[in-house]
Amino acid sequence: MRVDVFTQVPHAFGWLTEQKPLATVLGSELELRFLNYRDTTPLRSGQVDDDPYGGGAGMVLRVDVVDAALEAAYGGDRPARIVALTPQGRSLDQAMVEELAQESELALLSSRFEGFDDRIVSHLATDAVSIGPYVLSGGELPAMVVLDAIARRLPGALAEGSGEHESFSAELDGGLEYPHYTRPAAYRGWEVPDVLLSGDHARIDRWRRDQSRSRSLA
Ligand SMILES: C[S@@+](CC[C@H](N)C(=O)[O-])C[C@H]1O[C@@H](n2cnc3c(N)ncnc32)[C@H](O)[C@@H]1O
Repeated sequence: MRVDVFTQVPHAFGWLTEQKPLATVLGSELELRFLNYRDTTPLRSGQVDDDPYGGGAGMVLRVDVVDAALEAAYGGDRPARIVALTPQGRSLDQAMVEELAQESELALLSSRFEGFDDRIVSHLATDAVSIGPYVLSGGELPAMVVLDAIARRLPGALAEGSGEHESFSAELDGGLEYPHYTRPAAYRGWEVPDVLLSGDHARIDRWRRDQSRSRSLA
């Protein structure tokens, strides 16, 4: 899969690309490019945004700048999914992550300040995605959230079995995972449930299913 992130802050992504699981799949299952709108802007002095028509505070990312960035990256052959990251988009959930992870090519558009000229979202992007009902200062953190969630779903990203029964997965019907415990078995009077120490795998599986069900319904 290839993901292109369009951003004004490409260096923000350095940390993420060094971390598992992204680092594990980078260069094999995942090809990643960070494209700076400033490198392809048709405007002078690296300008990418402008005052909003009608007045008001803040700068708005220009439609011609984003179109030029897409043209430089793809020519006429743009990816089937071009996702604008905006708090006004469809809320990201695991089902959408699974869907995006199936794509062979994906472009993520981020903005800053007041956000996108609306024509970017309505004409250049195919999807508008929000990572939650709150406003961040830029699309870089949302792009990292999408990248990390997708990378986990790529072959070989996780140790065998560890990604299969996670919260929100189809295996759990979109529900929550059972609780985990590790050593020590008792700490300050907080005890690990006896069943997990029993060695009886049939009982443990039953207990985990029940826990998962009751957490999902809570
Ligand atoms: C300060 S926000 C703009 C908010 C916009 N003026 C509004 O009220 O809807 C700047 C940029 O950060 C990104 N962003 C902020 N919050 C986001 C969220 N919850 N989900 C996805 N992207 C977000 C988007 O790229 C957005 O264009």
